Amino acid sequence: MSLSASLATIFPEYDAIPPEFRLTPIPQIDYLLNGEIRQWAGPVQQVYSPVCCVTGEGAVRQLIGSFPLMGETEALAALDASVNAYDHGRGFWPTMPVQQRIAHLQEFAWLMKEQRDAVVMLLMWEIGKSLTDSRKEFDRTVDYIMDTIDALKELDRVSSRFVVEQGIIGQIRRAPLGVVLSMGPYNYPLNETFTTLIPALIMGNTAVVKPPRHGVLLFQPLIKAFQQAFPPGVVNMLYGAGRTIIPPLMSSGKVDTLAFIGTSKAADSLQKAHPKPHRLRVTLGLEAKNPAIILPDADLDLAVSECISGSLSFNGQRCTALKIIFVHETVSDRFLQLFSKAIAALECGMPWKPGVAITPLPEPGKTDYLTELLADAARHGAQVVNEGGGTVNGTFFYPAVAYPVNEQMRIYHEEQFGPVVPVLPFSDIETPISYIVNSCYGQQVSLFGANPASMAALIDPLVNQVCRVNINSQCQRGPDTFPFTGRKDSAVGTLSVSDALRAFSIRTLVACKDQESNKELISAIVRERRSHFLSTDFIL
Ligand code: G3H
Repeated sequence: MSLSASLATIFPEYDAIPPEFRLTPIPQIDYLLNGEIRQWAGPVQQVYSPVCCVTGEGAVRQLIGSFPLMGETEALAALDASVNAYDHGRGFWPTMPVQQRIAHLQEFAWLMKEQRDAVVMLLMWEIGKSLTDSRKEFDRTVDYIMDTIDALKELDRVSSRFVVEQGIIGQIRRAPLGVVLSMGPYNYPLNETFTTLIPALIMGNTAVVKPPRHGVLLFQPLIKAFQQAFPPGVVNMLYGAGRTIIPPLMSSGKVDTLAFIGTSKAADSLQKAHPKPHRLRVTLGLEAKNPAIILPDADLDLAVSECISGSLSFNGQRCTALKIIFVHETVSDRFLQLFSKAIAALECGMPWKPGVAITPLPEPGKTDYLTELLADAARHGAQVVNEGGGTVNGTFFYPAVAYPVNEQMRIYHEEQFGPVVPVLPFSDIETPISYIVNSCYGQQVSLFGANPASMAALIDPLVNQVCRVNINSQCQRGPDTFPFTGRKDSAVGTLSVSDALRAFSIRTLVACKDQESNKELISAIVRERRSHFLSTDFIL
């Protein structure tokens, strides 16, 4: 079948979907407030899948459920439940011994694992992520919880001793910050929400969780696990339109930490809404426009395969995706030829199709936006160089390689977050370097080359422009124990497993002068186990 014919028939009839992947719509009314699972009786938001099914009226997005559209009152109730559970640091959860908090997290991970199939199914249907990648997202998140527990044990062991310095005895630990508002993005709705929520909880904070715009229903199978594993008020779920329910939370001044993965515009307005900006801690994952730079001596087969997965995994909807490719002019023709061939070999289809790489897009209007980017690029002299590039069928957009891109084009500046790959030829290495220097973003870069001198000459200046220089490989976040952050408008704070524990806590200490009476007092407190903070217990 020709490419155009297969794209025209990409969506199935409902009956052609394998029975194990058919989804019964979920009218979700449950939400977790102060330890109670309540039923919502108010207005709801209907959820349509990016997956369309062929009907008599053509291919239409499948209705897969609905979720509560809460208002300001419910938002403030969720916040108050978290505030009360924290109780200015005097609550049951923030004062609990670390070992007990770890046990709660272990229980949660155990309960969560039982929901793997349900969550994976919803990841596929809600955001169009492939079955393989949806499973990976789930498993990676469970691993993240276990790694976080190990990292906290290690941190606690280091803190389980007294330090004597200049006649002062002290015990230094990390203490929670308060109430965390945790909001993840639609492309990793489970994983990226949990990479802030889990460290926040384990450090003793309480949380309000607001699922992303797409990828909401997949939290439903986890509500009971949250309820069972955590004391009342420690985790509260909030559903609705972010624009309605989040500003009142921020302007209340009761959010101590904002953990947000999304756009810098949204992050700015949330931060500005807080009446005490200097009291608000923020951990932000924002936009990026990671470039690849392909030098004349690069292994082109390797560069192509890395740039394919770098720019098109999950349809390019990753903050770490390669979003612009600079190729040395001496190899650009060959690169484009190989790259286009590699795109033609990608499987397109529904998320459950074995080996699928390109799937429908969840954001309404996204295919129009990507089409506009290509039209704008064409107006300024670029062409789509791969067969069928930019073909649209409903929510499906076939990957397009635009070449040669220049700085007049929107695609040069905007984070496309989708399957459009801008490629620029260069003769002078200053071209990609000045792109990076002048970019608003500074997350990562990928360098492809073989010459030690030319690679080293790039590495040294680039480590001061971005936060990860990838050699002969695509950009990526993992392994999750590596620091994940960005400069400029790309991030605030660092989110490796161990860094995240620091992001959601503050160093605090108990100190006294090195005098006999103080020593006796401290020894008695420790010996009689009267404090959870002053303690030399060593977690094994
Ligand atoms: O969307 C941003 C993700 O954190 C990227 O993670 O590089 O593992 O896909 P990844």
